[in-house]
Amino acid sequence: MRALVVYESLWGNTKQVARAVADRLGGVGTVDIVDSDAAPTTVDGYDLLVVGGPTHAFSMTRAATRAEAVKSHSAPHAPARGIREWLNELTRPAAAIPAVTFDTRVDKPRMPGSAAKAARHELRSLGFETVVKQETFRVHGYEGPLLEAELERASAWAGEAIAALGL
Ligand SMILES: Cc1cc2nc3c(=O)[nH]c(=O)nc-3n(C[C@H](O)[C@H](O)[C@H](O)COP(=O)(O)O)c2cc1C
Repeated sequence: MRALVVYESLWGNTKQVARAVADRLGGVGTVDIVDSDAAPTTVDGYDLLVVGGPTHAFSMTRAATRAEAVKSHSAPHAPARGIREWLNELTRPAAAIPAVTFDTRVDKPRMPGSAAKAARHELRSLGFETVVKQETFRVHGYEGPLLEAELERASAWAGEAIAALGL
């Protein structure tokens, strides 16, 4: 089993979740983990694609929300290419590849809209097959940290994907 985990992260919370997912997947195969700036735009040859990013303004980030994160909220890093732009460049797979998506969002207040849902929608229209329901992991405030036990939940969610693939 070869899995690719693509993540976007400004403060590092989504990156931590991506790593927990990758660690769990690493128990059953080989895993490449890469941020959206460096992610390949063709993913043929992988047996599972995992895509994760923070929710900004009810959906996947945009250049404007990333700029706002840096300017108004002191984010230490903003990718030039978030998962939204990467998905726009991603080519249709030759055969349907299983895919799963997750996002990170603030715990309080709870707001509608999910980057994971939006990413899942994009992947499905590109011909990927989403095998488990998208998942959300919660952070305190905009900068985090993750709520307690979210990394354990991320690991369990990756386990669901493994089970869905029959691995
Ligand atoms: C400009 C901006 C807009 C945001 N909009 C939302 C939102 O609509 N809903 C939400 O739950 N969290 C929102 N957040 C909080 C982010 O989801 C949070 O910063 C992110 O989960 C942190 O993950 P990271 O460390 O990987 O960047 C927003 C944050 C920023 C900076």
